[in-house]
Amino acid sequence: MVSTEETVRVVGISGSLRKASFSTSLLKILAKRAAPSIDIRVVTLEDIPLYNEDLDQNPEIPSVAAFKKVIAENDGVLIATPEYNHGVPGVLKNALDWASRPVFESCFKNKPVSIISSSKAFTGGVRAQYQLREALISMHAHLVMGPEVVVGGVHAMLAEDVYQDENGLAFMLRSLDRLREEILSRRLVYA
Ligand SMILES: Cc1cc2nc3c(=O)[nH]c(=O)nc-3n(C[C@H](O)[C@H](O)[C@H](O)COP(=O)(O)O)c2cc1C
Repeated sequence: MVSTEETVRVVGISGSLRKASFSTSLLKILAKRAAPSIDIRVVTLEDIPLYNEDLDQNPEIPSVAAFKKVIAENDGVLIATPEYNHGVPGVLKNALDWASRPVFESCFKNKPVSIISSSKAFTGGVRAQYQLREALISMHAHLVMGPEVVVGGVHAMLAEDVYQDENGLAFMLRSLDRLREEILSRRLVYA
């Protein structure tokens, strides 16, 4: 039985570096509107260098070490990403490549992860979402199942950091509830 009050800590990762990013805005809105038992900390990826296996060694690059630590220390991950040229934006894939090491022992291993893709197009970044799922599967992340959260026409939904469609927002919040339930049920299993 999942507790109604136990708090879970989630790191929200934005796949966009853009200052006025819709993906980052969605994360910030969800952080505000999520149930009190879901504590979301939003991070962006500007400090992560381009992946180079030669540099992937001890001591780690500080920004990379900090990124991996925040994932390891949180109970779950929520990724909000746009789609670039039918795929995952390079900055996000690049950060995941860093986080994926050591292979089979990465900070993503068994980590519950939910995804929100968004785009100005009505397709809502769904192709990026499916590429992202594949990358996360390779890292043995635990993808939380349920209806995919795909936000089409995102630019029309956001005005001054307010999401205009309450039904759409409720749909996103339900996916967060599923992420929390997954985290709590795994806590019971691994306790
Ligand atoms: C380089 C580039 C490529 C893009 N390619 C696609 C694409 O293939 N499919 C799509 O739906 N939108 C595409 N877009 C539009 C973005 O997904 C859209 O602008 C998104 O909302 C930007 O996300 P952000 O607000 O979080 O920065 C592209 C945008 C850029 C800058």
